Amino acid sequence: MGVNIKYNFPANFWWGAATSGPQTEGRFYKRHDNVFDYWFDKEPQAFFNQVGPNVTSNFFNSYKEDIQMMKSIGLNSVRTSIQWTRLIKDFETAQVDEDGLEFYNNVINEFLKAGIIPVINLHHFDLPVELYDKYGGWESKKVVDLFVLFAKKCFALFGDRVKHWITFNEPMVIVEGEYLYQFHYPKIVDGKKAVQVLYNLNLASAKVVGAFHKTKCAENGGKIGVVLNLTPSYPRSQAENDVKAANFVEDFFNRSFLDPAIKGEFSHTLVDVLKRDGVLWEATPEELTIIRNNTVDFLGVNYYQPRRAKAKEAPFDESKGWMPDKYFDDYKLPGCRMNPYRGWEIYPQAIYDIAMNIKNNYGNISWYLSENGMGVEGEEKYVQKDGSIDDQYRIDFYEEHLSWLHKAISEKANCFGFHAWTPIDCWSWSNAYKNRYGYIAVDLATQIKTIKKSGYWIKKVSQQNGF
Ligand code: BG6
Repeated sequence: MGVNIKYNFPANFWWGAATSGPQTEGRFYKRHDNVFDYWFDKEPQAFFNQVGPNVTSNFFNSYKEDIQMMKSIGLNSVRTSIQWTRLIKDFETAQVDEDGLEFYNNVINEFLKAGIIPVINLHHFDLPVELYDKYGGWESKKVVDLFVLFAKKCFALFGDRVKHWITFNEPMVIVEGEYLYQFHYPKIVDGKKAVQVLYNLNLASAKVVGAFHKTKCAENGGKIGVVLNLTPSYPRSQAENDVKAANFVEDFFNRSFLDPAIKGEFSHTLVDVLKRDGVLWEATPEELTIIRNNTVDFLGVNYYQPRRAKAKEAPFDESKGWMPDKYFDDYKLPGCRMNPYRGWEIYPQAIYDIAMNIKNNYGNISWYLSENGMGVEGEEKYVQKDGSIDDQYRIDFYEEHLSWLHKAISEKANCFGFHAWTPIDCWSWSNAYKNRYGYIAVDLATQIKTIKKSGYWIKKVSQQNGF
């Protein structure tokens, strides 16, 4: 359709964007704190400019206007998440908080009224801090079961209207942030615990998938998936030790969730290494059967940057105990393109490589690009005299990534959509509002929201189903 369209996408393609509850709503009237709420209260200086999760982009109060703006820029689908700490009054029984229920009902109804498909995620790093204090959070299988209870409640309450569900956003980031590299509370460094958490999150996802498949929503065609940050690992060279290092990175950071989610089993090479090193997770045969029998219906792939690895050269710091870093060093490709604000390499071709990996090694399962984005600091400097925001770099970034996605689709990749991070500039963990990603800008002082040039661009792309 249309003239001058070089890249046409399949019919009913999702042109949307992703965000999450804790990054947009603000804490208003929330009965419980998640780990980030707690961490901010305790240590505000750990957050960029000491901006915390209290107000964020005020979605709790402005969801109607915000959803109208999302509609006005042509988004046909949007992912957000239900906060465990807002919906649930009592975690042990999953008794519902009436205000939380009313809010999420309103949000979902508003999306539907606007003709936007709501994609609802159940966990976006927002563990209730009480469940960390009481049980050790994701270290505990009790918490796995409480999460299943919460998920079942969500299906029962919203499954009549929500047809696309996500169990977790980037579960690997929980493992890395909370248990290895100290960028999420409780900032522990413990490789053995990290490995158990990795397993428990896989178990939780499979149990939730299993519970969903028994619902009316699933009977009526509803689907459930998981969103993984698949950061492909490229070796420094084809030398055997570099390839081996990159393969370990792939095993530990990607296949550890991808394989159980899609194939129902863990990578054997990963299990061998963890067993040999004495850090393998504790699992029962019954749990492994649950993981085997409850694979996802579709996959979401978040992609921002590639990962490059080389054979271990720097001495491994034994004082930290077991760490995956024992088997590789990160490697920066000389002269590579960078997003200087985020410190991430820009490598659009990885989208094609991810798509071919899914096609060739994961049965070409149905998937969508669930996050991709360009975070830029100081976007105020791109405000023009007439008040418009000229973020051409974001448009260029998306067009380049989408051209590789298009190539993959033309070679039969089973991709059904593209979601940018994010519809409206949102709060982001310890980076807070440092790097802006949205199609729509938010002025934190006034909460005035303004569509950027990229917002007008996506509207056109969505209308034309291509560019
Ligand atoms: C994604 C997360 O990995 O990256 C989001 O799912 C996050 O929650 C986004 O906000 C951008 O992260 P940052 O740190 O650059 O703001």
